[in-house]
Amino acid sequence: MHNIKAIIFDLDGVLVDTAKYHYLAWKQLAEELNIKFSLQDNERLKGVSRMQSLEIILDLGNMTLDPATKINLAEKKNIWYVEYISKLTPDDILPGVISFLKSTKVDSIKLALGSASKNSMLILNKLNLTDYFDAIIDGTKVSKAKPDPEVFLKGAEALNVLPSECIVFEDAEAGVEAAINAGMYCIGIGSKNILKKAHLVFSGFSDITFDKLKLY
Ligand code: BG6
Ligand code: MG
Repeated sequence: MHNIKAIIFDLDGVLVDTAKYHYLAWKQLAEELNIKFSLQDNERLKGVSRMQSLEIILDLGNMTLDPATKINLAEKKNIWYVEYISKLTPDDILPGVISFLKSTKVDSIKLALGSASKNSMLILNKLNLTDYFDAIIDGTKVSKAKPDPEVFLKGAEALNVLPSECIVFEDAEAGVEAAINAGMYCIGIGSKNILKKAHLVFSGFSDITFDKLKLY
């Protein structure tokens, strides 16, 4: 890995295990709508926007609804989700994340967040992570959902670096594709079987430091 100047992190499922709360809140909504929704179905929701997630669920149930009802349902899911994440504390940061973030500061690497979530600021503040980032691009700042590269390109722009100088950490298939579409080096966090398109996959941050990454 050469000439890396910046790292862009996805939030949900990379820095904190909020993916399980998204799943629980969507599952609750799916049950209300009598739609079967499994953990496997949930993989398709990772990284995509709130509205698109709802569309995927409605599609699973062959259900079509008018726009106003859809907005209400998405809002309902978000209220349940926010209830779950209101209990987050810095203890919920995934193992190894803090020491990895610190290891990047030694090399003056710039850090950005690149998340589809409109709840990003709430979560970062709960976890005391906000100050690690030089730029935060979240769901309130993008109009095109992953796999569109917009969120990561905006991150690179805000940090004043080229896409080719960025590494992206992602746990979602759509997010890995977005990073590749942005022309960035993508490291998957999770399973190699799911994140097939990533340049490299780790199961988590426990074994990674920025010094080790430079060897790849
Ligand atoms: C992504 C999650 O980070 O944010 C998705 O992986 C989620 O599952 C999306 O749908 C939007 O999040 P929010 O918090 O704005 O509903
Ligand atoms: Mg994610």
